[in-house]
Amino acid sequence: MINFTTFVVFCFCLYESFSYCKEYTFPNNFKFGVATAAYQVEGAWNTGGKGENIWDHMTHTNPSSILDRSNGDIACDSYHKIKEDVRLLKNLGVDFYRFSISWSRILPSGKTDHINPDGIRYYNELIDELLANDIKPFVTMHHYDLPQPLQEEEGGFLNLKLADYFEDYADVLYKNFGDRVRDWTTFNQPTLICFLGYSGEFIAPMITRKDGGYLCGHTLLIAHAKAYHLYNKRYRASQKGRIGIVQNIFWFEPRTNNIEDLQAAEAANEFNFGWFANPIFSKEGDYPQIMKENIEYASKQEALPKSRLPEFTQEEIELIKGSADFLGVNHYTTFYCSPVEDKSIEIGLFYIPDMNTNCIVDKTAEGSSSSWLKVKPTGFRKALNWIKQQYDNPEVIILENGISDAGNLLNDCLRVNYYNLYLTEMLKAIHEDGCNVSGYAAWSFMDNFEWRSGYTQKFGLYSVDFDDPARPRTPKMSAFVFKNIIRERKINWTYTPDGFRPCERSKIKEEL
Ligand SMILES: *[C@@H]1O[C@H](CO)[C@@H](O)[C@H](O)[C@H]1NC(C)=O
Ligand SMILES: *[C@@H]1O[C@H](CO)[C@@H](O)[C@H](O)[C@H]1NC(C)=O
Repeated sequence: MINFTTFVVFCFCLYESFSYCKEYTFPNNFKFGVATAAYQVEGAWNTGGKGENIWDHMTHTNPSSILDRSNGDIACDSYHKIKEDVRLLKNLGVDFYRFSISWSRILPSGKTDHINPDGIRYYNELIDELLANDIKPFVTMHHYDLPQPLQEEEGGFLNLKLADYFEDYADVLYKNFGDRVRDWTTFNQPTLICFLGYSGEFIAPMITRKDGGYLCGHTLLIAHAKAYHLYNKRYRASQKGRIGIVQNIFWFEPRTNNIEDLQAAEAANEFNFGWFANPIFSKEGDYPQIMKENIEYASKQEALPKSRLPEFTQEEIELIKGSADFLGVNHYTTFYCSPVEDKSIEIGLFYIPDMNTNCIVDKTAEGSSSSWLKVKPTGFRKALNWIKQQYDNPEVIILENGISDAGNLLNDCLRVNYYNLYLTEMLKAIHEDGCNVSGYAAWSFMDNFEWRSGYTQKFGLYSVDFDDPARPRTPKMSAFVFKNIIRERKINWTYTPDGFRPCERSKIKEEL
């Protein structure tokens, strides 16, 4: 027996060619947020006793390293705009605000010889203002901006001692903020900190050592685990928070269905995501097998005495394994991979020599103002499924997702379509595939300093006028659309906020 209502819904579903039936809603306990990072928004680079970090240093001593020769000296001036920014967050209706703490604002030398009172005051005020407005602080301890003295005097993350300095820093954070902060992540995008910062001249400190990325990764994994265990030992019982790590997952697809391309894509996923996820989230722990094998083989070819990839002791493997309460995931786009030997394609953006894999963007796909970022929403769902399979469906919180443009449009349909498309795929991963995704933060709350690209690429829901000393914020269409998604808990493709022109619906929507 079916009742009348079911019958009507059934007919409606047929009529709408099932599209209505596929309109999933966000689960009741699903949390929404927006994200920023300290160096990209705070400004006040030398205010209130803050120390110099590697981005201050690089932008000041080597301005041409930044596309528009800009820096984060003032950025969005968020340091001076706590009340205004929290009001905007409140207006969006977010459950949490993901921001990062500037290590050098808390510890100017990077070490605990001096704890900067103004740094403690600033983050206390931000946290308290958020909580007073019912918004949870979601804190990243390290987002690219290492204190310069730790780089200059200690060699940065090439030096294993940094794991101890990081643990000391984490201790200061738990002690001062842990009574109110429940959601912590240690590092943002370790693959990029290490591969782009220590094995390529892409981000500070722009060191190019073939083994640099791996040495850095080793330090970060141990540092992360130490911060996690410190929390367990001293703080968890009273503070009742949780600790995660934030790893970027570019999705790597095979370029064709050849077995060689399938293997190439799998290698790329392991070298980029598995590098940090396998040691923490897999049952056996340690680096992915394919990394160990490939790097050892390449090292032998170069007659090195041992593999460029450092080895963990069994004790370290156990220390790191399971050292997270959730997996923070950033996702933007998809690449297409073939073996390096395949000379029919040029060397693409994602080429790690030991990986033996060459991955390129789909040049024909809809783009953005970032050459590496193409609109490929189905990759998001595939990436979430890969995580589910590899690591036994851990709790995942999306902590960055978004797209850049030149920032000149308040009617930002590229971004509106991107969010509608990517969130639709995420909903399918949750409802059809059973992926354990419990939250989502859009990147970014507002336009900001986009690292080597300066202010030429804008990811914000809010536009910021960087020519005006007051740095006024203006909501783009995407801010209203995101707010509507949070309020209605579903995607509404026709929603058009007052004062904006409707967006032409993305062609990709029809292909999904
Ligand atoms: C998702 O993860 C949480 C936290 O680990 C767990 O309690 C829950 O059972 C998981 N849900 C699914 C569907 O696996
Ligand atoms: C989508 O938004 C429009 C307002 O722009 C509204 O009229 C319509 O009812 C909404 N659709 C759904 C399914 O919520």
